This record gives sequence, structure tokens and C-alpha cells, in this order.
Amino acid sequence: MMYLGYNIYPYWQSLLNSFGMGLKQIDHGSREYQQMVSLRNTILRQPLGLSFTQDELEKEKNDILIAAFDDDEMLGCCMLTPINQQTLRVRQMAVQNNLQGKGIGASLMSFIENIARDKGYRNLMMHARNTAIGFYEKFGYKVSGTEFLEVGIPHHVMEKNL
Ligand SMILES: CC(C)(COP(=O)(O)OP(=O)(O)OC[C@H]1O[C@@H](n2cnc3c(N)ncnc32)[C@H](O)[C@@H]1OP(=O)(O)O)[C@@H](O)C(=O)NCCC(=O)NCCS
Repeated sequence: MMYLGYNIYPYWQSLLNSFGMGLKQIDHGSREYQQMVSLRNTILRQPLGLSFTQDELEKEKNDILIAAFDDDEMLGCCMLTPINQQTLRVRQMAVQNNLQGKGIGASLMSFIENIARDKGYRNLMMHARNTAIGFYEKFGYKVSGTEFLEVGIPHHVMEKNL
């Protein structure tokens, strides 16, 4: 299935919404931000034997931080880092292990693309783990350039004009 703009994930999206899933921007340093760092640690860093340094987290102060919630429980998250006036980089996309494959990632993608458009950005790009390339392709992102290593695992740059 292709995901274009406001054409959001029909089945699981509405089912999850009926359970009360909400997507929102969160503040750096807040209690929700601590939840986000914990989720990112569990999904993205611990499996690689890594964690976040205080310095890395400090650098996120000006990023747009997004999370999906069911009441107080954080289901998934991601971040947007401005690269220049036209382009945002999507980073740290993560969904709880036991909730993957249910449309939460698709909802996050749709939400951040709308935020990016609203703020006047024209492009989104990411350093996609090779294992996640198929996910981003669902939303029209294309691989550009050659493979490189980040956090010790293979990645490709992917991008899309909004
Ligand atoms: C990648 C990730 C964010 C996707 O979120 P998700 O909630 O599991 O994805 P969704 O359920 O919304 O899937 C949307 C579509 O993408 C597909 N998809 C999901 N993950 C995929 C993957 N890794 N590779 C290929 N396709 C994938 C789904 O099958 C679904 O396709 P469909 O519409 O044809 O049914 C999530 O699986 C995750 O956190 N993975 C581990 C961390 C990670 O790799 N993050 C990305 C770092 S670049």
C-alpha cells in the first residue's frame, strides 16, 4: 500500500484511534521526553549494545519531537532535525517491539509529513537502516547513494519531495 499525504493508514489507524491513540509534538526535557529516550534506547540502541550520551541528547533541543500515545503509554516516536530551509531529516523512528506491524509507524510518517508541509519544508530525508528501507519505500521514499555504516550497521540515505 502507498501512503500519500493525508491518505492515512485506513484499517489499523482507525482501530488504534478507537483505542485512543494520539499523535503529538513533545517538549525536550519533559517527562514525555524521558519516555521517548527510554523507548529509543530499548528499540534502537540496546540491541546494538549502545546507549545515548548526554551530549547527543542535548543536541536534540531544537528538533521537532513526535510521539504516538495510548493514554500515557508511548507506542512509537520519531524526530525531525532541520538540515536547511527546505529539508528535514527524519531520525530515531521507533515503535514498541510488540506493537510493530499495526500501522503506528505509518501514522507517524503521515503526521510528520503534514507537519513538514505546514512548516514550509519541501523535502524529507533519512538515514534508513537497510532493514527499514522497505518501510520507507511504502511512503514513496527512494534510496539515494551508496551504503554506509552508522551505529555499526548498514544504512542508505532515502529522500522524498513533499
Ligand atoms: C520500522 C518501524 C518504525 C515501522 O513501524 P511499524 O509500526 O512496525 O510499521 P507499520 O505497521 O505502520 O507498517 C506500514 C507498512 O510498512 C511495512 N513495514 C513495516 N516495517 C517494515 C520493514 N522493516 N520492512 C519492510 N516493510 C515494513 C508494513 O508491512 C506495512 O505494509 P502494508 O501497508 O503493505 O501492510 C518499526 O517496525 C520499528 O520500530 N522497527 C525497529 C526500529 C527501526 O528499524 N527503526 C527505523 C530505523 S531507520
